[in-house]
Amino acid sequence: MALEARPRSDQACPGIEVTLMVNGSQFRMALDPRVTLLDALRDGLGLTGSKKGCDQGQCGACTVLVNGRRINSCLSLAIMHDGDEVTTIEGLGTVEDLHPVQAAFVAHDGLQCGYCTPGQICSAVGAIDEFRQGLPSHVSRELGPPLLTDDEIRERMSGNICRCAAYPNIVAAIREVMEARA
Ligand code: FES
Ligand code: FES
Repeated sequence: MALEARPRSDQACPGIEVTLMVNGSQFRMALDPRVTLLDALRDGLGLTGSKKGCDQGQCGACTVLVNGRRINSCLSLAIMHDGDEVTTIEGLGTVEDLHPVQAAFVAHDGLQCGYCTPGQICSAVGAIDEFRQGLPSHVSRELGPPLLTDDEIRERMSGNICRCAAYPNIVAAIREVMEARA
């Protein structure tokens, strides 16, 4: 399905054509080259699940998956992602059919205000995949399959800030999913 997204009305530059595959649907957009991926998703496509916390790469609220890898969408220009597959929180699960990480966050009470939660969950999905691939983190003692410790989970999620401090429950939720898939 190809959908047309309208550019922002306040754009001063002529738009550059970009095609994004977002949550399984193709979108063609004409974008000011200065528009970030986060703004293209939120303002251009109306996908407001990804949050703008700091807008400078420090909080992780804007985390999305691009071609399966997590990135801070506030730090990336949309025109850099022509042809890329983007997954936002809206593409992971539904209320009726939660993604396993979403279900674990609910089960472990891993959210309070919930503002950071979409980024936390997208980041957790990416982190779990990296863990399963055996990729080391900064706290891994050696190369090879990492140990499933809370320190590993905390380190891998350290780019995502939760000012409500739901961290113990977030770690428990991610651990449950990692253990279930191990
Ligand atoms: S909004 Fe992107 S890291 Fe904070
Ligand atoms: S649940 Fe409120 S900032 Fe994380």
